[in-house]
Amino acid sequence: MHHSIELAELYVRLGNVSVLQGVNIEAKPCEFISVVGANGAGKTTLLKVVNGILKPSQGRITVLGYNLSHYKNLNFLRKEIGVVPQKSNSNRFPICVEEAVLMGRYGKIGLMRRPKEPDWDKAYEAMKAVGISQFSKKLVPELSGGEQQKVALARAIAQEPLILLLDEPTTYLDQESRSEIMEIIHTIHHQRELTTLLVSHDDQLVEQYSDKIYLLKEGKGYLIK
Ligand SMILES: Nc1ncnc2c1ncn2[C@@H]1O[C@H](COP(=O)(O)OP(=O)(O)OP(=O)(O)O)[C@@H](O)[C@H]1O
Ligand SMILES: [Mg+2]
Repeated sequence: MHHSIELAELYVRLGNVSVLQGVNIEAKPCEFISVVGANGAGKTTLLKVVNGILKPSQGRITVLGYNLSHYKNLNFLRKEIGVVPQKSNSNRFPICVEEAVLMGRYGKIGLMRRPKEPDWDKAYEAMKAVGISQFSKKLVPELSGGEQQKVALARAIAQEPLILLLDEPTTYLDQESRSEIMEIIHTIHHQRELTTLLVSHDDQLVEQYSDKIYLLKEGKGYLIK
């Protein structure tokens, strides 16, 4: 069986900075992998490479068995990758929660097509899984930071991806909400048999949920669990 995500000897340069310098990371199907590291270590950069947004200067990236360098258009693969970004611009738009979550379906149905009943069902299932059904009609900008994080998570889940990428899903949250959202992520990871790659600066928080943890430091990745 192939790995769900495999980064081999990955080098990434941004401007004149060598952000990643020979990183090796593997996630088998259904594994929960965390990457930790200080601010600026290259964690967000790493996720962008996995998602095909950034091209490495060297190295191989394989996602669900596809070598990314062999494809010009990666949309077919992005449909299988749910992303919870570090900062979500979409939280500023005055749309209600259920519409924001439904947007997770657009990658699958296409922007020009109208969502159908089953798409709404997936959106409602995702809201239920994340625990935000009770404020489905509220406007996203009126929610707290923690609630907005849950909306972003529900949107990614509504997409029904095989791979879930999470960029600091617990930033701006208090200790209790951090543990709560990590529990939700972990439960969904198991229920939906996802391969999850989470990046965080909080190595203590991810410890109990991760099958493996890598530390990113000075451009290199170290397996620390
Ligand atoms: N477009 C860019 N051009 C030049 N340098 C960049 C660019 N984007 C990011 N960098 C630099 O690359 C390094 C890694 O950035 P990255 O955002 O991946 O870090 P991070 O680990 O996610 O940090 P944080 O914990 O603060 O989110 C940083 O030094 C950053 O300044
Ligand atoms: Mg980052």
